[in-house]
Amino acid sequence: MITTNIQIAAYIFSSILFILSLSGLASQETAKKGVIYGIIGMVIAIMATVFGENIQGYTYIIVAMIIASIIGIIVARKVEMTSMPQLIALLHSFVGMAAVLVGFGTFIDPHTFEMTGAEKSIHLVEIYIGIFIGAITFTGSVIAWGKLTENISGKPFVYAGKDIVNVVLLLASVVLGVLFVGADSSDGMMYLGIMTAIAAFFGIIMVMAIGGADMPVVISMLNSLSGWTAAASGFMLGNDLLIVTGALVGSSGAILSIIMCNAMNRSFFAVISGGFGQEIKTGKKLEGKVNSITHEEAAEILNEAQSVVIVPGYGMAVAKAQYPVHDMVEKLRKKGKTVLFGIHPVAGRLPGHMNVLLAEANVPYDIVLEMDEVNPDMPETDVTLVIGANDTVNPGAQEDPSSPIYGMPVVEVWKAKRVIVMKRSMAVGYAGVENPLFYKENAAMLYGDAKDSVEKINSNLK
Ligand code: TAP
Repeated sequence: MITTNIQIAAYIFSSILFILSLSGLASQETAKKGVIYGIIGMVIAIMATVFGENIQGYTYIIVAMIIASIIGIIVARKVEMTSMPQLIALLHSFVGMAAVLVGFGTFIDPHTFEMTGAEKSIHLVEIYIGIFIGAITFTGSVIAWGKLTENISGKPFVYAGKDIVNVVLLLASVVLGVLFVGADSSDGMMYLGIMTAIAAFFGIIMVMAIGGADMPVVISMLNSLSGWTAAASGFMLGNDLLIVTGALVGSSGAILSIIMCNAMNRSFFAVISGGFGQEIKTGKKLEGKVNSITHEEAAEILNEAQSVVIVPGYGMAVAKAQYPVHDMVEKLRKKGKTVLFGIHPVAGRLPGHMNVLLAEANVPYDIVLEMDEVNPDMPETDVTLVIGANDTVNPGAQEDPSSPIYGMPVVEVWKAKRVIVMKRSMAVGYAGVENPLFYKENAAMLYGDAKDSVEKINSNLK
């Protein structure tokens, strides 16, 4: 058992470690250190909480920790890199569910009704807001998990009058909140129950209304919401560390959401309100001739090129093609060719996905450039090699105002002299949008699994 003063000191130390962890995670070179700071901070935080004053039921706590740790280790070992976003969405849903349970638990705690005056009102508002955000985070994250695992369609789902229903329900939540703060315990429970159902519905409808290409913003927004949810739980439980860490996660998630929105030229409000007042676009139907080439021809084109820009996407991650891609880059650079990578901010399925894969395969950092850095050089580039990317290289984002992704910045691969697109078929990408790139005269499809294709090209490079 430790004293409250030691607990406070431990919490401050953990908070500092969490801040160091976040700043470490900001760059690839320091990311490992950041993770270690985070682990140490979390171990100290758990110890300081578990051994704090007035904690009882150690048997339950230890059994729960052992079971959860075993599940955590198994899941972390089994999860594929490409499945990380859905795992994160699921973990966010636990934070939401925890806040709802903490809220109801705090409400039925006899101490709540021993309070009087402003202290009681503030405590009830904390409970109400905590459960409201928690329920939205819970159901929103479950739907995001469903969309990412493709158990639920990635297409935006909206119904007539959605915006009006949302506004009415939001107003109803505010009115219920006012009634809740002035009610006794049994009426209060009823208002809390109705509001929880409304918030759960909000979470579902908000994420269901969001279309494929906007999912990265939703994931970072749910990340942010889960942080604010944890902070709300901190207020309910009077735990300073939860408030600090919740605010850190909440604000960093909000900053990431805004960065994502800027990168995708989307309005933050339009995305989080599920396209409030916007019509759904479907894009032009495409037809025309599609060129395709063999691995030998692709190798020949690369042999003749002087400058090559490689644009990887989700398909490179699925195929685990980063290792042969590294070998190909080495071969081409040895022949004196200029090889660069052009990375779209939402390529793959999680922020920085491509950078992590390329770093794992030891591709030098200095040739891995961002979309904005490679786009101006595209017209002077001999060949762009698109490896399993689709939405992020879709010219419809610039050329077709009826496209659902119109206005989203993309890597302008078609402006190079030649484009080789490696994928298995003509199938659409995550956003479910047809890609006019495949029909361009200077583009050629190289069908097949990306790893297999790159290995075959490597064996044909002179
Ligand atoms: P996508 O548009 O999803 O396209 C990936 C392409 O890879 C598919 O069209 C698929 O075509 C191909 N592919 C799959 N497996 C392959 C394999 N083994 N070998 C070769 N090709 C393979 O990818 P992108 O361009 O990276 O764009 C990312 C999309 O995901 C964006 O819409 C983005 O908004 C969304 N998203 C991003 C994130 C984050 S945070 N980055 C999170 C959620 C969603 P075939 O089936 O024909 O092979």
